[in-house]
Amino acid sequence: TQATLIGLPTDVGASRLGAAMGPDALRVAQLGPALERLGVRVHDLGNLAGPANPRGARDMDGLRNLAECLRWNQIAHDAVLQVLEQNRLPILLGGDHTLATGSISAIARHCRAAGKQLRVLWLDAHSDCNTPASSPTGNLHGMPVSSLCGLGPKELASLSGSIPALPASAFCQIGLRSVDESEKHMIRELNLEVYDMRAIDELGMREVMRRALAGLFGPGSEDIHLHLSFDVDFLDPDIAPGTGTPVRGGPTYREAQLCMEMIADTGRLASLDIVELNPALDMRNQTAELVVDLVQSLFGQSTLMRTP
Ligand code: ARG
Ligand code: MN
Ligand code: MN
Ligand code: MN
Repeated sequence: TQATLIGLPTDVGASRLGAAMGPDALRVAQLGPALERLGVRVHDLGNLAGPANPRGARDMDGLRNLAECLRWNQIAHDAVLQVLEQNRLPILLGGDHTLATGSISAIARHCRAAGKQLRVLWLDAHSDCNTPASSPTGNLHGMPVSSLCGLGPKELASLSGSIPALPASAFCQIGLRSVDESEKHMIRELNLEVYDMRAIDELGMREVMRRALAGLFGPGSEDIHLHLSFDVDFLDPDIAPGTGTPVRGGPTYREAQLCMEMIADTGRLASLDIVELNPALDMRNQTAELVVDLVQSLFGQSTLMRTP
């Protein structure tokens, strides 16, 4: 595998400052070398430049920093598309979760051109499917899923060159435990495939992942592009405090490892977002180090030699 790290240092989609330092915290935690040890050839584009965070109030649509979010997402889109066209695996280092709008728009565009089917795993405490009308906060990091499904602000919804960028059925969300009332309706309306923490409690992570990854093994699955959008607040805040919107009761270290290992087993992972890491809220970079550890599992690190 050849992977390209794309640093997108911004927090314009969030309420709290600090996610803009995420890319550098991941580099300090040795993300690149950790992947190289697993045989991945890593190229780091460094941090791309974009607009500063104006820290303004909500604008007249009730949104915060829409113009800046749009710009950052265009930058994300263009960078991810270019990396995919080089046949390399893009690893977006966020940055807040709005950036998934740009990255997944590029992936959807690439898949459309290549005749590939897209599957998006969304690991998160949140569903991120608010719309400008429903959002309680006006923060755009709460809206990437609705934007990609064609229901967000139209400037963001149209980034892939088609609205919606992908069908809602392409998404699978895992780890949810903080869902706004309006989002519960949206999940129903879009018929999103969701495994919340209760599902993980009841079924176990193994069964949840077996269901989430159904169809990604064996003949016919070669044409599937698997994307992982990894919001660091997916993890339990006891082990991952470095994030802006932590919610207690998330997956444990072991559950998160199993999740990553089972994704690796598919052999289909073709792109990755790592978002919402906030070093200003972390302790001695432990959250970044945990993420690097999990990403190693995602790229095939395992305790024993295993045969599929
Ligand atoms: N649902 C809340 C909102 O719309 C929180 C979203 C948190 N999203 C995130 N990517 N951390 O503001
Ligand atoms: Mn390709
Ligand atoms: Mn989240
Ligand atoms: Mn999120």
